[in-house]
Amino acid sequence: MKVLANDGIATSGVMELEASGFSVDLSTIAQDQLVDYINDNEIAVLLVRSATQVRKDIIDNCPSIKIIGRGGVGMDNIDVDYAKSKGINVINTPAASSHSVAELVFAHLFGMARFLHESNRNMPLEGDLKFKNLKKSYAKGTELRGKTLGLIGFGRIGQATAKIALGLGMKVVAFDPYLDAATLELEFFDHQAVFFNINTITKEEVLKESDFISLHVPSQNEYVISTNEFEIMKEGAFIVNAARGGVVDELALVKALESNHISGAALDVFENEPKPEIQLLMNPSLSLTPHIGAATGEAQDRIGTELAHQIIDILK
Ligand SMILES: NC(=O)c1ccc[n+]([C@@H]2O[C@H](COP(=O)([O-])OP(=O)(O)OC[C@H]3O[C@@H](n4cnc5c(N)ncnc54)[C@H](O)[C@@H]3O)[C@@H](O)[C@H]2O)c1
Repeated sequence: MKVLANDGIATSGVMELEASGFSVDLSTIAQDQLVDYINDNEIAVLLVRSATQVRKDIIDNCPSIKIIGRGGVGMDNIDVDYAKSKGINVINTPAASSHSVAELVFAHLFGMARFLHESNRNMPLEGDLKFKNLKKSYAKGTELRGKTLGLIGFGRIGQATAKIALGLGMKVVAFDPYLDAATLELEFFDHQAVFFNINTITKEEVLKESDFISLHVPSQNEYVISTNEFEIMKEGAFIVNAARGGVVDELALVKALESNHISGAALDVFENEPKPEIQLLMNPSLSLTPHIGAATGEAQDRIGTELAHQIIDILK
């Protein structure tokens, strides 16, 4: 049986599939040629990430497809309900990238707490002539240990982020309207484990109490953080959005930064992807990454292996 991994798949996944007798095609077929390619090659499994769209045209015109698989979480690019109504299995790997996203949040938090995002922009420009000035500019760093991390959205990634925070000695508070409490297991290298029970509190309490805030909610119809929420936040707080563009009101964010009400913000996702507003890209108080939360070798390996296991379970 043939698997077309149109947006790629890690070698770990290819090896598992091939060991079970599947042939894996790593071609990237243009969207408008996909239907013909799938039919000509009798593709049984179509794997995508976020680039390839799997809409009604493919679902209706490619009878060989038995499984549509998405490496990652969001399925916005697949007509999931329609595919299921036609008897096609739709699979994804929701947990595989949680830890990678959580680590990226901390890369931003540590970076902002010591001005690395600004220092990395200015050292190449002025590091030789204005070393002492730059040293003074970045002298008022802050430690994360002992501070409060507020999580908005306490699902897989929110909880993975909480575990790192707890390991660092931070206090963790969380808001999630669909979850009252969660028990987190912190595992250490020598197999010791510590359990933490965290009860969720209101959004307002999280905003008021937190020195650092990180968002881990699914895409929403309205902003989760806008002018009103920024006003409730502690003076000097930091915020990270590695969830979805449109969860944070970017205009309100820039205003909160410019008024110095908050000290810094990090964005991995943008309202206008893949062309974020230039006003954001040029803002020195922002720590920026181009939607790379899940982009680690380890996450891609786990995604590949998890997809392979699910495909083997369904078709073998
Ligand atoms: N930056 C990246 O590259 C990257 C990678 C993977 C996932 N993500 C995004 O991270 C987000 C979280 O993923 P996850 O795997 O933790 O999802 P999840 O479903 O496990 O958790 C989301 C949590 O948010 C809660 N929630 C829903 N609406 C809320 C609201 N208005 N306020 C507070 N909480 C709310 C839900 O109850 C749920 O517990 C998703 O938006 C996903 O698209 C980003």
